[in-house]
Amino acid sequence: MAQAKTSPVSVPNDLEPYWLPFTPNRAFKTRPRLISGAKDMHYVAPDGRRLLDGSAGLWCTNAGHNRDPIVKAIQAQAAELDYAPAFQFSHPKAFELASRIAALAPGDLDHVFFCNSGSEAVDTALKIALAYHNVRGNASRVRLIGRERGYHGVGFGGVAVGGIVANRKQFGTLLVGADHLTSTYNRAEQAFTAGEPEWGAHLADELDRLVALHDASTIAAVIVEPVACSTGVLAPPKGYLQKLRAICDKHGILLIFDEVITAYGRLGHAFAAERYGVVPDMITFAKGITSGAVPMGGVLVRKGVYDAFMKGPEHVIELFHGYTYSAHPLACAAGLATLDLYRDEDLFARAKKLEPMWYEAAMGLKGLPNVLDIRPVGLTVGIDLASKPDGAGRRGYQALDAGYFEHDFMFRAVGDTLALSPPLIVSEAQIGEMFDKLAKIIKAVA
Ligand SMILES: Cc1ncc(COP(=O)(O)O)c(C=O)c1O
Repeated sequence: MAQAKTSPVSVPNDLEPYWLPFTPNRAFKTRPRLISGAKDMHYVAPDGRRLLDGSAGLWCTNAGHNRDPIVKAIQAQAAELDYAPAFQFSHPKAFELASRIAALAPGDLDHVFFCNSGSEAVDTALKIALAYHNVRGNASRVRLIGRERGYHGVGFGGVAVGGIVANRKQFGTLLVGADHLTSTYNRAEQAFTAGEPEWGAHLADELDRLVALHDASTIAAVIVEPVACSTGVLAPPKGYLQKLRAICDKHGILLIFDEVITAYGRLGHAFAAERYGVVPDMITFAKGITSGAVPMGGVLVRKGVYDAFMKGPEHVIELFHGYTYSAHPLACAAGLATLDLYRDEDLFARAKKLEPMWYEAAMGLKGLPNVLDIRPVGLTVGIDLASKPDGAGRRGYQALDAGYFEHDFMFRAVGDTLALSPPLIVSEAQIGEMFDKLAKIIKAVA
């Protein structure tokens, strides 16, 4: 092995060694967008500028940044118990947090399996679905159905059921046996809809088509995001999720809602399942559970699914799956403090109350140059801009850059789609400020 080039203490803080995820590394390193601090609704750049956070970090800091109760809970936990083995042992806060999450969940979604990210949550849910059919003697149910334009993280399972081509095309055959529903988005039918579109519920019937093709006896589960956020915020057509639930029931297929973004207030409820009046068999969550302060993810499971595993000799492991850091004490402490904040400040209801004003402010961008569609739902919005003739994604990237460097404003750009999802503590004045800034940026990149 090569010798280290220098002693660790003399290594300069160089931009080169760090390979940034989902980032054009060369462009970033030419003009880095660094963040060195945060408080409430703002980030702080190394040069001291305060940037308004229009994206809750990466759709996660729903309670705002560096909130004192969360900071204190993490500090206290680090001093009391740094780590407890996740297998064969546990610690009290893991049970407390699972109980609190189960109490927030609809229906009989009353058991929680913990992991450390959304990607792990998705792969965990897919594995539970396969194992569930297996333990019930239906081992032929191995197919997993996702949806075009869906994002379910970056594990092999999540990418296989995901439907974003750039995330798939470099990685071979992924999981065999995955298939996809069509996306629910149709610009001709839905452009400039605030909230859930009227058109598109019939697209759930696609599932019947896939059942006719593969046979229900080969299908384990369907996974969808209630609102597909990472692809540019696509709300479900009215009635679509209810239809999907009914078709899954008809065929004995498990329904998984990937709520990594939509849980914990983004749509005005603890879970989007509640907004849509649909109880899935599993819900994946991450991000907002700790308001982004410590990595954590998890899967909420219906009682019947959990019970199916609780058979056989009691000394035998029921599910051969887990992570060293499942229910990490720091994450549990952060999660409990975050749920307290959501409750004490009534942040989910606050998001719901802000919705009409948010929709109106977002729709105010209609008519600006290159704006092809605006899709607000809950406290989030996707804004499609026309691509520049010299390359898809260039206008979106320029908008992101202009936001950071010239307008002290941060948001998401996915190709030429801009997405906003502020912390739920955002004020009405700050919402106005966000869309004023965005209007200037959209004009600047025309
Ligand atoms: C719906 C959904 N699932 C899974 C993930 C993956 O989460 P993570 O990046 O924490 O692995 C994301 C991330 O944005 C997501 O939006």
